[in-house]
This record gives sequence, structure tokens and C-alpha cells, in this order.
Amino acid sequence: MYAYTHKRAYRDLGNIDIRQYLHHLADNTNHLYLHLPFCRSKCGFCNLFSLAGASSSDVDKYSDSVEQQLIHYGKPEQVQQARFSSLVAGGRTSLLLNEQQLERMFLSVEKYLPVEADNIYTVIETLPIFSDENKLGLIRNRGVNRISIGIQSFVAEEFKIFGRSHTVKQSNEALERIKKAHFGELNVDLIYGIPQQTIDSVCYSVNEALSYQRKKYLSILYI
Ligand SMILES: C[S@@+](CC[C@H](N)C(=O)[O-])C[C@H]1O[C@@H](n2cnc3c(N)ncnc32)[C@H](O)[C@@H]1O
Ligand code: SF4
Repeated sequence: MYAYTHKRAYRDLGNIDIRQYLHHLADNTNHLYLHLPFCRSKCGFCNLFSLAGASSSDVDKYSDSVEQQLIHYGKPEQVQQARFSSLVAGGRTSLLLNEQQLERMFLSVEKYLPVEADNIYTVIETLPIFSDENKLGLIRNRGVNRISIGIQSFVAEEFKIFGRSHTVKQSNEALERIKKAHFGELNVDLIYGIPQQTIDSVCYSVNEALSYQRKKYLSILYI
């Protein structure tokens, strides 16, 4: 059980010098998290820091900065000798990136860090409207093991409250495409506590999500 950091909780890291912590990389199994803060629009319930309405060139500029950070933080010997067991490209809506931007993301990480996305546990977050066959094919070929999609509810009346950028129909269509792409793991985000939601309607959404399952596994995130 965990909670997301509220958007007002972020602070300047100020005087923290990352070099003081590099020795921890050698003793641990390390996890690499690539934060992608972009969303097409802001959902009514979302209290996370996210950048809605960014243009493709904004995403390119962000990718330039990430690459600069990778060059900088990838240099020390301790980083080059570290072992990374997972790569998570998450945050907000990773598949909002176009195919070139996604490809660049993988290439940059693999160029500057001792990471091969194919050989480690790789996770990516998406939304129905960005889960087209081309992007799904690209990330599948890049060895993504787990895809996580935000659905929230399969009940149209509940869903309308959110002001999301997709419909229940688009959710189902995206899940069909994901199923066909054969990812090892599928995570479906659902929300409960929606006004007028009932136990029956929650169960309906859970059962709809389970109808796309590939393995007998259900995780519940309580926020
Ligand atoms: C990192 S968030 C967003 C992922 C993706 N952008 C999306 O909207 O599907 C992951 C999940 O947290 C859940 N969540 C619950 N409460 C939330 C809140 N107050 N703000 C944002 N997400 C929340 C939603 O189910 C959401 O899909
Ligand atoms: S798409 Fe996800 S991260 Fe973006 S505003 Fe909506 S809930 Fe928040």
C-alpha cells in the first residue's frame, strides 16, 4: 500500500550531492525510473504533478534534458559498474510520446547506462488513446514485460465524472490490442470511491478487467 506524492510536496533538492550516494549502487540491485510528466489533459481527480497540453517540441526539449542528465549521471565508474534489474518508464502517460521519441528514450538509456531493456524487467504506463498497434509493437519489440493502463471504471456513467480523454469503448478496444500484443503482464488501474459507485458496479469493473487477464493474478492498489 502506498500513496503518491502530492504535487505540492516537491522541493528543490538543493545541496544534495549525488556522489555521496554512488557507493550504494555497487551493493544493491538497482532500479531505474524514468519520469515522463506529460498528459494530454488534466483529469478531475488527479492531484499529481503533470504537464497537460505539452507540444511535441516540449517533449523533445524534455528528452534533451533527460539525455543531458543521463550523460552526467552515467559517467562515474560506480554507475557504469552498477547492476540494474528493472526499468520503469512512468509518471503520467509514457505512451503520449511519439514513436521516434519512445525509440530515443530507449536508445539514450542504453547508450549512457549499463542497461539493456531487453534483458531486464521493463514496465511502461499508458492510456487507451495512446495504445495504438504501432506503439504497442515498438515497446513489445523493445522487451517491455509489463504494461500498465489507466482505465478507472468500465461503467460509462461513473466514467463521465472524471473528464478523461477516452471513453469506455476506447478502453475496451485498447485492452483488446494489448491482449493481442502478448505482453507478459498487464496492469489495469481502477478507482473506487467514485460518487454513486456501488459495490456491484465496482465488481463489474473488476470482472471486466479480469476478462483481459493472461495470468491468474490480481493486485489491488489502495490510495
Ligand atoms: C500514476 S497514476 C496515472 C497513470 C495514467 N496517467 C492514467 O491516468 O491512467 C496511476 C493511477 O493512480 C490512480 N489514482 C488514484 N487516485 C489518484 C489521484 N488522486 N490522482 C491520480 N491518480 C490516482 C489512478 O487509477 C491512476 O490510473
Ligand atoms: S492522465 Fe493520469 S496522470 Fe494525467 S492527469 Fe489524468 S490521472 Fe493524472
